[in-house]
Amino acid sequence: MLATVSKNVFLYASQNKVLNKAAKRWGLRFGASQVVAGVTIHSAIQKVKDLNAKGLVCTLDHLGEFVSSREEAIEATDYNVRTMEAITKEGVNSNLSVKMTQLGLDIDRDFCVSNMRRILETAKRTNNFVRIDMEDYSHCQITLDILKELREKYGFDNVGTVIQSYLHRAHDDVKDLKGIPLRLVKGAYKESSEVAYQDKAKIDENYMTIIKEHLSNGSYTAIASHDHHIIAEVKQFAKENNIPNAQFEFQMLYGFRSELQHSLVKEGYTMRVYIPFGDDWFGYFMRRLAERPQNVAFAVKGFFSK
Ligand code: FDA
Repeated sequence: MLATVSKNVFLYASQNKVLNKAAKRWGLRFGASQVVAGVTIHSAIQKVKDLNAKGLVCTLDHLGEFVSSREEAIEATDYNVRTMEAITKEGVNSNLSVKMTQLGLDIDRDFCVSNMRRILETAKRTNNFVRIDMEDYSHCQITLDILKELREKYGFDNVGTVIQSYLHRAHDDVKDLKGIPLRLVKGAYKESSEVAYQDKAKIDENYMTIIKEHLSNGSYTAIASHDHHIIAEVKQFAKENNIPNAQFEFQMLYGFRSELQHSLVKEGYTMRVYIPFGDDWFGYFMRRLAERPQNVAFAVKGFFSK
């Protein structure tokens, strides 16, 4: 009961525009610096360097919420281009994760596609890769359509997306996207029972189904989860089916289960850390608190240490 209330409070805060706007002025607070790698490209690149030195690879995500004008979407696109250029200039091992709503998807589809193309062209010049994060269900089909357009019509082979195992359609989508690099996740948004499983056991079962599907058909697979049961099952499945370590990677969020991240590297697996950064940190931080009540410990410690 208490957990549900606090979850709803954090989710409400994450969507509150006044709080999000105010937080840009505060700078990282309440322990957010444990899960957000600073507000500038420079601070984020520094974190990537530290992690690279320990054998982990990264994906950078410039945080941005509530983009509602073309100017904001262009600003976000420019920032992503600059981030990609900084990755190259600094010679760090990181790719980029982007959300298409930040690039104007809700304003105009073709405008968003042209912004994506600018980012992908920058990435292509340096042999780098861009992952389109998957947002809520209302953006799922359009995200997959744009992914195909970018790959087939515009010839970008350096772009992939994310499939969420809580969706009923996930297995069909994974089969349809054979050969395309996918990040597979359980799913982070609140979706209706009409489109998504609500039961954790069913979501986990479907998660293993789609992971096995993509691995078995020879496609590059990123397993993005902090769940040690899932990770153990993936390792066993890969061994039993002679799937080479080079065909998959594990991914976790910056600041979560660092010991597990390092032990996977020691075992010889590729471990990619998802690194969010930027002054629009508040919504992301609130959603992490909503997801897992234990994370509130971060916030409480951070609150008292300021
Ligand atoms: P889950 O929350 O199901 O936890 C299962 C078990 O794992 C727990 O009971 C506990 O035992 C253990 N565990 C989990 N977290 C722990 C922690 N911090 N410390 C200790 N134990 C822990 N979603 C989306 O909709 N679109 C997207 O594009 C992405 N992208 C993305 C990228 C990356 C790199 C990650 C890691 C996640 C995403 N997600 C996402 C989020 C994803 O869909 C999901 O909501 C979260 O990862 C939570 O699910 P998990 O599989 O991590 O474990």
